[in-house]
Amino acid sequence: MNKNSTISKWNEYFIDTYNQPNFVIDYGKGSCFFDIDGNKYIDFTSGYGVSSLGYSNNSLKNALKEQVDKLLHTSNLYFNEPVLYAGEKIINISGMDKVYFCNSGTESNETAFKIARKYSSDKYGEGRGTIISLKDSFHGRTMMSLMATGMDKYHKYFYPLPEGFKYIERNNIEDLKSNIDSSVCAIILEAIQGEGGVNVLEKDYVLELSKICKEKDIVLIFDEVQCGIARTGKLFGYEYFDVKPDIVTVAKGLGAGIPIGGVLVNEKLSKVLGKGDQGTTFGGNLLAMVAATVVLDEISKEGFYNDITEKGAYIRKYIEDFNSEVVLNTKGLGLMIGIETSVESSIIEEKARKKGLLILTAGKNVLRFLPPLTVSYKEIDEALKILKDILLEIN
Ligand SMILES: Cc1ncc(COP(=O)(O)O)c(C=O)c1O
Repeated sequence: MNKNSTISKWNEYFIDTYNQPNFVIDYGKGSCFFDIDGNKYIDFTSGYGVSSLGYSNNSLKNALKEQVDKLLHTSNLYFNEPVLYAGEKIINISGMDKVYFCNSGTESNETAFKIARKYSSDKYGEGRGTIISLKDSFHGRTMMSLMATGMDKYHKYFYPLPEGFKYIERNNIEDLKSNIDSSVCAIILEAIQGEGGVNVLEKDYVLELSKICKEKDIVLIFDEVQCGIARTGKLFGYEYFDVKPDIVTVAKGLGAGIPIGGVLVNEKLSKVLGKGDQGTTFGGNLLAMVAATVVLDEISKEGFYNDITEKGAYIRKYIEDFNSEVVLNTKGLGLMIGIETSVESSIIEEKARKKGLLILTAGKNVLRFLPPLTVSYKEIDEALKILKDILLEIN
């Protein structure tokens, strides 16, 4: 089918919740997509941070093919080795105590909230279920994760909304203190707010917040769905702050393209949920588990984290050296990069796409780069050359 007929058929069948550009992707290789007309696009989006190993990665393909030939699904009713291997691996490299696998970031966060609320009600009784999150945060689209998301635009229309959520300003410890009362059971943070503008939290703030959580027995949840699994040059973004969360939620890059979610808990919370308290039909899907094992093996290779830090620094320096008036600031950690711009980010995003570079925005004036972690310097140079041309054009 050609491009135009694919797009017009698409509009016949799908609920219109996305705004796709005018091309049809065919296949991927390295960090690039190719469309059905043979055009190439360097992908600095990774499908919103998912395709951590890029496209057509041999280790991933081979492991998945082997599993396809053996078995696809058992449900959580039965023991099997692929789930065990993924679980063992993530526990060993994260230093957390137990894991629960599910299917997406929002589901991971829903599970984290249930654990925090049950811990609190088991220990303190009813009336201690409030969850605090940060303004400009993003935690997902199902009803509780939606409410934890600190952006009003995501809440409207879906009334009645779940109760028990409060929002505070990031990096403002006084705002935190004035919002903590005896009803609070948990605080959820992204080490770097992704959708909210690639905002890295301040270390002193996170340290103080973590201290308060410990003193008041408030569950500290880090949502590492976007910034976790090596994206920042460490396994988890929170490692930059020298704190230890009670719960870590993961998804996206852990599956490298196969849907996955995971909730990691420390020892204190490891027995909060018992048999029947939580479940999901597809959690622990065998292909997802095999993919997670490959990803964890790849990121554990010597020099992998360092490589991410260096590539991130290389990209930011190159952009800063443009000395373009359009670039106000670069921010982020590792290969999670934000570029504040003096013009609307969507204008640059559209121009880049037309020249064969796919990038994301994070709000009105921030460009966001989430390239595959395996992106090569050749691909980076090609992408930066496109960006430079655009900035020169706009200047
Ligand atoms: C930090 C964060 N948490 C949660 C989510 C929701 O993940 P999912 O879309 O897999 O439900 C996202 C998605 O972008 C995210 O960036």
